[in-house]
Amino acid sequence: MSVLQGKKVLLGITAGIAAYKTASLVRLFIKSGAEVKVVMTPASKDFITPLTLSTLSKNPVHSTFYDQEDENELWNNHVELGLWADIMLIAPATANTLSKMTKGTCDNLLLATYLSAKCPVYFAPAMDLDMYKHPSTKKSLDSLQSFGNIMIPATSGELASGLVGEGRMAEPEDIVSFIESDIISKLPLKGKKLLLTAGPTYEAIDPVRFIGNHSSGKMGFEIAKAAATLGAEVFLVSGPSHQYVKHSLINRINVTSAQEMYDACHKHFKEVDIAVLSAAVADYRPKNVADQKIKKKDASLVIELEPTKDILKSLGAIKEEQLLIGFALETNDEVCNAKKKITSKNLDAIVLNSLRDKGAGFAGDTNKITIIGSDLKETTYPLKSKKEVAKDIINEIIKRLSNK
Ligand code: CTP
Repeated sequence: MSVLQGKKVLLGITAGIAAYKTASLVRLFIKSGAEVKVVMTPASKDFITPLTLSTLSKNPVHSTFYDQEDENELWNNHVELGLWADIMLIAPATANTLSKMTKGTCDNLLLATYLSAKCPVYFAPAMDLDMYKHPSTKKSLDSLQSFGNIMIPATSGELASGLVGEGRMAEPEDIVSFIESDIISKLPLKGKKLLLTAGPTYEAIDPVRFIGNHSSGKMGFEIAKAAATLGAEVFLVSGPSHQYVKHSLINRINVTSAQEMYDACHKHFKEVDIAVLSAAVADYRPKNVADQKIKKKDASLVIELEPTKDILKSLGAIKEEQLLIGFALETNDEVCNAKKKITSKNLDAIVLNSLRDKGAGFAGDTNKITIIGSDLKETTYPLKSKKEVAKDIINEIIKRLSNK
């Protein structure tokens, strides 16, 4: 999955011959899962039609402050466009537009939108080699980067003039890869490894029966996705769960019993920076597992249970630099019980869910949590989707990592 998945990309097109390549650029962004809107300078329409770009982007394309052919003459709000974008890319960026951008000139919709944008702005210069070499252009490129804009350097090759040299706009595939790599390199969990447990465990009674619980694994899987989206490599140790996840940074390790989960966690714990144990691990398992299916009898059946190993506690006992976060699912004296677990399991924080809160717990798509730190400070969040709750947990982890 591309890091551009779900991102809002605003493409600004200026009047260079390389504008014809922006059709491919829009296609590539759409293919990577981004949403695309296009603004053009009026002169760029001589190089590629707005119809091509609106068809490919599935959004209206604007080049003026209002559309003259539109009888309602609705204002094309540059501020709204600028704020809409997660990323703005100006490609091709001509010498003229680059110079205007350095000065804050805003005599067209694209420039006004650029000045309104709060998101990262990338620009891909494109011009003839002598224009590219000119000291005034070099000055524009330097100033724009000093403002925090990100340059996607022009490449060398044959130019529209027939001359050969530096000034060709980077190829659309390279522009997209450049932006993807830049985003990845700045992700807050880039280079971090996270161990995560999720779902229930099943403890065998005989070859066909087990003791389990209703955990769906949803919360843990959402945490895995949120962490991977922000650059972490995730070891997701999952008990039996129907949840599905596909991400190049998520390594799913399927286990069934508490003992298997324990073994998988201990295998990876030493190499990780963070461990979040959200699984609903069985506290007890049958002391003896029958080899054959237990036959029905008239008398009642007693199964002797023995405690499983407490995985979280065992990691708390050996933790060094790792940030260790547990979960607590409580039905009464919630905060008090959760705080006891912080101490007894040597945790950096605990995520508390109370089954008394409507919409919290195992099966649903929502959850309501309180995060309690080792300083026993509590932060309570409102009821949210599990996806949003996962983001809150990951943001809390990022904060704690930076304070470590
Ligand atoms: N946990 C674990 N191994 C176990 C039991 C629990 O790693 N054998 C972890 C859970 O994943 C969770 C935390 O411990 O992060 C708390 O689990 P919870 O069931 O709320 O508490 P317990 O310690 O089992 O205590 P109790 O059931 O008595 O509340």
